Amino acid sequence: MAKIIAISNQKGGVGKTTTCINLAASLALMDKKVLVIDADPQGNATMGSGINKYRVECSVRHVLIDGADAMSALVTETNGAYHLIPADDELVAAEFKLRDSMSREVRLKNALEPIKDNYDYVFIDCPPSLNYLSINAMCAANSIMVPIQCEYFALEGLTLLIDTVDKLGREVNPHIRIEGILRTMYDNRNRLSQDVSNDLQNSFGDLVYRTIIPRNVRLAEAPSYGKPAVFYDRSCAGAKAYVALAAEILEKELLASSS
Ligand SMILES: Nc1ncnc2c1ncn2[C@@H]1O[C@H](COP(=O)(O)OP(=O)(O)O)[C@@H](O)[C@H]1O
Ligand SMILES: [Mg+2]
Repeated sequence: MAKIIAISNQKGGVGKTTTCINLAASLALMDKKVLVIDADPQGNATMGSGINKYRVECSVRHVLIDGADAMSALVTETNGAYHLIPADDELVAAEFKLRDSMSREVRLKNALEPIKDNYDYVFIDCPPSLNYLSINAMCAANSIMVPIQCEYFALEGLTLLIDTVDKLGREVNPHIRIEGILRTMYDNRNRLSQDVSNDLQNSFGDLVYRTIIPRNVRLAEAPSYGKPAVFYDRSCAGAKAYVALAAEILEKELLASSS
């Protein structure tokens, strides 16, 4: 059965998209079948997977608004590692249309029903705001992964997200839970990074992944080559960290299934 994970944080620039495509690539390297859904109108997960968002024929917008089936929107990332339901440059408009449509919270969930079991993991890259695109992502998901940039104000966004998850749990998706909290852009020379990281561990314990994603320029360069860093430079510290995260996730699951 597929595990559907929304990657979300209402703060922008915390590493959601970087995590989404690099984790997808890392799990694909481990022979997992992976689907990425780009639910952010910025289309960064689409471009970072080597798909031109200005030339997409069938996107997540068509699936959400026009009722196109999810299968017809599937494309393959340039290295052939994972499937993608891309965003296009008109996804912003779709968000407005969603507000007036029937079953506006569960359109993505319903659309994924026929294809989800073709995958081991489905990652949904969320926009940095709470709108109907992110609500669709969270209704379709089993859990939420929260990347947190290890800097000041990081915890503020997290409190907001936890409130949102509680609300969603009460109102639309009672099974939703936080999958894990991921420390990103960590700089071990920076005292603030260490303090935020310690605070997270003290407040959230085992919910915080052991793996920490370091600040690494290769992670930032890779999207301009249309590749996750895991394919752009497999040996860089950032890529290695995402591969380690994938291994940690698989290990966690193995432990959960044997207990
Ligand atoms: N660990 C990292 N080290 C260095 N740069 C990073 C790292 N993670 C992300 N970036 C860069 O920071 C910016 C924001 O990251 P992104 O993943 O797009 O965040 P979000 O999706 O949350 O807005 C991007 O330019 C990205 O390439
Ligand atoms: Mg993003």
